[in-house]
Amino acid sequence: MTLFPDLVDGVLSESIIGRARAAGILDIRTHNIRDYTLDRHRRVDDTPYGGGMGMLMSPQPVCDCYDAVKAEIGADKRSLTVYMSPKGKVLTEQKARELSGYDSIVILCGHYEGIDQRALDMIVDEYVSIGDYVLTGGELAACVLVDAVGRLVDGVLASPVCYESESLTDGLLEYPQYTRPPVYRGVAVPEVLLSGHHANIEKWRAEQALITTERMRPDLLRKRDGDDGVIR
Ligand code: ADE
Repeated sequence: MTLFPDLVDGVLSESIIGRARAAGILDIRTHNIRDYTLDRHRRVDDTPYGGGMGMLMSPQPVCDCYDAVKAEIGADKRSLTVYMSPKGKVLTEQKARELSGYDSIVILCGHYEGIDQRALDMIVDEYVSIGDYVLTGGELAACVLVDAVGRLVDGVLASPVCYESESLTDGLLEYPQYTRPPVYRGVAVPEVLLSGHHANIEKWRAEQALITTERMRPDLLRKRDGDDGVIR
């Protein structure tokens, strides 16, 4: 649900997510909130009560759009409604995995200074942020959410192995990878990778994942160990 469906459709029509849509594996539909306004000038926003900067999205078009979307989904589906907002919990791989278990996710994108709180209270189950910074609207954040969740849906990636061994699946960052040539500008590929010795390669990769995580994101290691930051 957005005021800028073309923005979302453009991003989500390319590459892996675009192919999954074309193959019928992901069903991604954009709904233009403006199509539901009852205002004769097609307005969807108004000034905030109490004064202040900017405009707010009115509750009527948002709630009527939501009713239409819910009717389209059907009552039998396990569905969750998410509002993209910096007020939400920051998206993690764990959250993406949790969301990939739903039959359907309705994503509400706000614009201007936000949305009338009554509409949010009536329809939203969860607020989700993609990071501690402010975007001009929820659309790019929604695309990030759809990409992160969509790739975990069965059939979207070539094989589940694609994400089982990669960054963050086990709380670690991915080990470095190399392809041909064996020597490039004088730099050789680590010898173990050319050895054909699978057990040694697995061991090297596990070590490298730890080293990479320690070097680049030591906070992830502490989280993985269940360290809540409290010194006891
Ligand atoms: N809308 C504006 N900023 C956002 C953010 N950081 N995450 C999600 N939605 C947003």
